[in-house]
Amino acid sequence: MIQVTNLTKRYGPVLAVDDVSFHVERGGVVGFLGPNGAGKTTTLRILSCYQPATRGSATVRGFDVFGQSMEVRRLVGYLPESAPLYPEMRSREYLNFRGKLRGMDSQECRAAINRVTERCWLGEFIDRPIGHLSKGMKQRVGLADAIMHNPEVLILDEPTIGLDPVQIRETRNLIKELGEDHTILLSSHILHEVEQTCDRTIIIAAGRIVATGSPQELRDQLSAKARVVAEVQGPIEEVRGAVQGLEGVLNVEATSSDGWVRLAVEPEPQRDVREALFRLTASKSWTLRELRREGATLEDFFVQVTARQQQAVIHTDNR
Ligand SMILES: Nc1ncnc2c1ncn2[C@@H]1O[C@H](COP(=O)(O)OP(=O)(O)O)[C@@H](O)[C@H]1O
Ligand SMILES: [Mg+2]
Repeated sequence: MIQVTNLTKRYGPVLAVDDVSFHVERGGVVGFLGPNGAGKTTTLRILSCYQPATRGSATVRGFDVFGQSMEVRRLVGYLPESAPLYPEMRSREYLNFRGKLRGMDSQECRAAINRVTERCWLGEFIDRPIGHLSKGMKQRVGLADAIMHNPEVLILDEPTIGLDPVQIRETRNLIKELGEDHTILLSSHILHEVEQTCDRTIIIAAGRIVATGSPQELRDQLSAKARVVAEVQGPIEEVRGAVQGLEGVLNVEATSSDGWVRLAVEPEPQRDVREALFRLTASKSWTLRELRREGATLEDFFVQVTARQQQAVIHTDNR
């Protein structure tokens, strides 16, 4: 549905997006995750025809965002980071005004407003002045505006930023519901949010894509790196040597206190050495009082990949 190829955007000396390529299939919610300044907003603005790229291309359902921007605008609903709403207008007036801008006549506007009021749970708030609405409710008006023209694709830039926990949960649920019949690309700097809302994640840091996959796939990459932690009663050097000798063990750290040896075992990728470790301690009659696998968390992964990228940029800058 969305295809981005070697996209680059410079603001003068600032390289905001650096040779980025990714694609988004039809249907479902895709998270565009990265720390502040990673290039998320820049990429989303290019995709929704708000600004041109310096190099590379992007298409939505085959239409080029630069050369065929009218078609793309029809296909895409865009919710910017802070939706520009007029506080003195009532929601209904605002949506009517936006519909007219999109070339809808009064009847089409009325029908669209009824539809989006229901889809975005606006209820009686549709007739309140926007200035009187809570931030969460304003965000719903922004979403309602984004789907007024029945777009197939929704591009949402940090849709829950600045909301309180209850509003965040409501907005997430609304996005999930909209994801049932739209293709959604949403940006966030919060890992937890993307894990909760998205089927697939694209991680960007310092203008480059550093990882993609479903939250589960990203977690699998991590469990490949899981360590095994054990506590064994036995002579430390002998324990260390025997564990190091097990098949599939790359590295062993051993420390001892009160006669107990604490082991941190790094196995080969995709390998679980817990059973072998248990059999070893049993055959040597060493008492085993703890044995567990310790996976890195998705958060560790996020911090790691983004920090690595940040550092690579600092190195390039110094050259
Ligand atoms: N209009 C602009 N002029 C100059 N630099 C910009 C502009 N917009 C963004 N940047 C810079 O580009 C980089 C990426 O910004 P942005 O796309 O807003 O990141 P994100 O949305 O991931 O926080 C940042 O270093 C930011 O300071
Ligand atoms: Mg941003």
